[in-house]
Amino acid sequence: MGNVRRGFSGALAVTFVLASTTSLAADPRPEDFVKFRRAVFTVLGWKFQQMVSVSKGEKPFVKDEFLRNAVLVEQLSKLPLDGFRPGTDKGETRAKAELWTNMDDFKAKAETLASEAGKLVDVARAGNLKDIKVQLGKTGASCKACHDEYVQK
Ligand code: HEC
Repeated sequence: MGNVRRGFSGALAVTFVLASTTSLAADPRPEDFVKFRRAVFTVLGWKFQQMVSVSKGEKPFVKDEFLRNAVLVEQLSKLPLDGFRPGTDKGETRAKAELWTNMDDFKAKAETLASEAGKLVDVARAGNLKDIKVQLGKTGASCKACHDEYVQK
């Protein structure tokens, strides 16, 4: 009896694994790209906001925590571009139409963010809050530069 039951749940597990492998192997749909990039920006925004709160004095400055957030923002800043594929300009997106016709500029703005975020990691590692605030401001300016051009309010 016990063996039969184990066999049955084993078969279920195999079916489940196959089903999820199939859905992973299938090409992502355009709406999946939109979801992906929005999810990345959501986490990026969350982590960035935590650093802004420290900078405003709303949260205490704990160096290791701040550094971790800076590292995450730097790493996440390299991800959204994967989600801006041709043909993903429809659906639940706030990307403006101009984005798709100015892809080189859009990519340059993404690179500026990655580079400012890289410098933020360096100053966070050094640990001087005054320098950190200046560099956080520059990083935020690179978010705004892109949003002003390419994101619907
Ligand atoms: C290179 C351009 C670019 C840069 C730089 C950029 N963003 Fe964005 N961001 C976008 C675009 C485009 C969208 C809209 C994506 C969509 O809806 O398809 C977006 C969306 C967002 C969203 C909304 C996510 C959602 O769907 O709810 C947040 C939050 C966000 N960005 C935060 C930031 C922060 C914080 C930074 C800087 C650390 C930043 N962004 C830098 C282009 C950029």
